[in-house]
Amino acid sequence: MLARVMNELTAPRTAASWRRRPAAQQPAYPDEAVLRAVSADLRARPPLVFAGEVDSLRAQMAAASQGRAFVLMGGDCAESFADNTADNIRLKLQTILQMAAVLTYGASTPVVKMGRMAGQYAKPRSSDVETRDGVTLPAYRGDSVNSHAFTRDARIPDPHRMLDAYLRAGTTLNLIRSFTMGGYADLREVHSWNRGFTANPTYARFESFAEEIDRAMRFMEAAGVDFEALRQVDFYAAHEALLLEYEDAMIREDSRSGRLYDTSAHFLWVGERTRGAEDAHVALLEGVHNPIGVKVGPTTTPDELLALVDHLNPNGDAGRLMLITRMGADRIRAALPALIEAITADGRPVTWVTDPMHGNTITSDNGYKTRRFDTVMDELRGFFEVHRALGTVPGGIHVELTGDDVTEVLGGGEHIDEAALARRYETLVDPRLNHQQSLEMAFEVAEMLRR
Ligand code: PEP
Ligand code: CO
Repeated sequence: MLARVMNELTAPRTAASWRRRPAAQQPAYPDEAVLRAVSADLRARPPLVFAGEVDSLRAQMAAASQGRAFVLMGGDCAESFADNTADNIRLKLQTILQMAAVLTYGASTPVVKMGRMAGQYAKPRSSDVETRDGVTLPAYRGDSVNSHAFTRDARIPDPHRMLDAYLRAGTTLNLIRSFTMGGYADLREVHSWNRGFTANPTYARFESFAEEIDRAMRFMEAAGVDFEALRQVDFYAAHEALLLEYEDAMIREDSRSGRLYDTSAHFLWVGERTRGAEDAHVALLEGVHNPIGVKVGPTTTPDELLALVDHLNPNGDAGRLMLITRMGADRIRAALPALIEAITADGRPVTWVTDPMHGNTITSDNGYKTRRFDTVMDELRGFFEVHRALGTVPGGIHVELTGDDVTEVLGGGEHIDEAALARRYETLVDPRLNHQQSLEMAFEVAEMLRR
C-alpha cells in the first residue's frame, strides 16, 4: 500500500492524470454527453502537426537557450473565427517574417518563427461573469468555447466550437505552409517590404540599418549564396493550452518513438492563471513531448519556478522549457534577477523569453484597455539589461500583434493617442501592436541585440 502511494507521488504523471487535479478556467458545459461525443470525434481526426516538426522546434529552442538562435513569437491575444480570413493570416505572417528578417540581422543568428496562430482560440478571464447595464452573463472565454456576442444564448459554452476551432486551425496551418513553402517567405521579397517601411520619413532613423542589410544581401549574392534555397522557411504554430478537453483530445502517440505529442500545435504554453505545478494544466503538459512555455509574472517565487522545472523538465533537456517573463516595465529589473539566479543555480537549461505586453496593460481615460509602446519597449530593455548583467541568454520575444493598421496600443512613430484608439480598436481581448508598431519594435530590438 505504502509502496503504491510512493509510486503515485514519484512516478512521472501521465497526460491523462490531469483529470484528477484542480483545473482552473474551464467552461461549465451544460450537457456532458455532447462534450463526450465531440471529444470522441476529435480524437479520431488527423493530427494538425507532425511529431518530427515538433522535435525540430525543440532543437531550435535549445539553440535559443544558448544564444545560437533567437525566438520570435507573435500574433493575436485571441484569434477569432470571424477574422480567420486569408488576408488576416497573410498579413500576420508577413509582419512576423519582416520582423524576423530584421532580427536575424541584429542577432546574427537564425530566428525561430512562431505564430500565436492556428489555434489561439481559448482565453483565461479574471472573472467568470461579465456585467453590462445591469445584465450579468457568463464571460467570453474565446471562440473555441462561446461567442463574444453579449446574449445569454451566445455565452453558453458549446463543445461543437472545439470542432470549428480544429478545422480553422487546420486550414490556417495549410495556408501558412503554402506560403512558407511556396515562395512567399523569399528573403529578397521580405527585405523589399522592409525597405518600404523604412522609406516612410517617420521611420527614417532605421534607414542606415536597412542600408546595412542591403549591403549584406548584395555581399551574399556576390558570394554566390543560393537565394532560391532561402525561399522556404520553418514556421511554427503556438497557443495557450487552456481548454483541457480540446488539448487532451488532440494528444496522439508518435508511431516512430512511442512518445505522446499534443498535436494541436507545435508549441503550447500555460498562462499566469493556470500554471500551478500541482494543477491540471501542468499535469497534461508534463505528459507530452512538445516544447512548453510557462508565463512568469512578477510575484513568482524561485521555489514555484523550480517546482515547475521538476515537473516539466525533470531531466534538464535543452529546448523543452521556455520561461516567458511578463513582469511589467516598472518591476522587471527588480523581480527578474532572483528568478534567473535560481534557475542558473539549479542548472537545468531553460529558454528565457520576454512578453513585454501583459505586465503593462492599462485603461485609457476614455475607457480602452490599452498599452503604451514606450512602456512595452522599456520592459524589453529591462529584459536585455538583466540578462546582460547576469551573463545569461535573452532567448527571444513574445508579443501580441496583428498585420493590420489597428489602433489599440498608444504611441509609436505614428503617435497613436487616446482619441485615435476609437478609430480602429478591434481586439476581442488584449490590445495588439499594429503592423508599423511591430516593425518599429523589431528594428529597436535588433539594435539591442547588436550591442
Ligand atoms: C496571454 O498571453 O494572452 C495571456 C493571457 O497571458 P498571461 O497568462 O501572461 O496573462
Ligand atoms: Co493577451
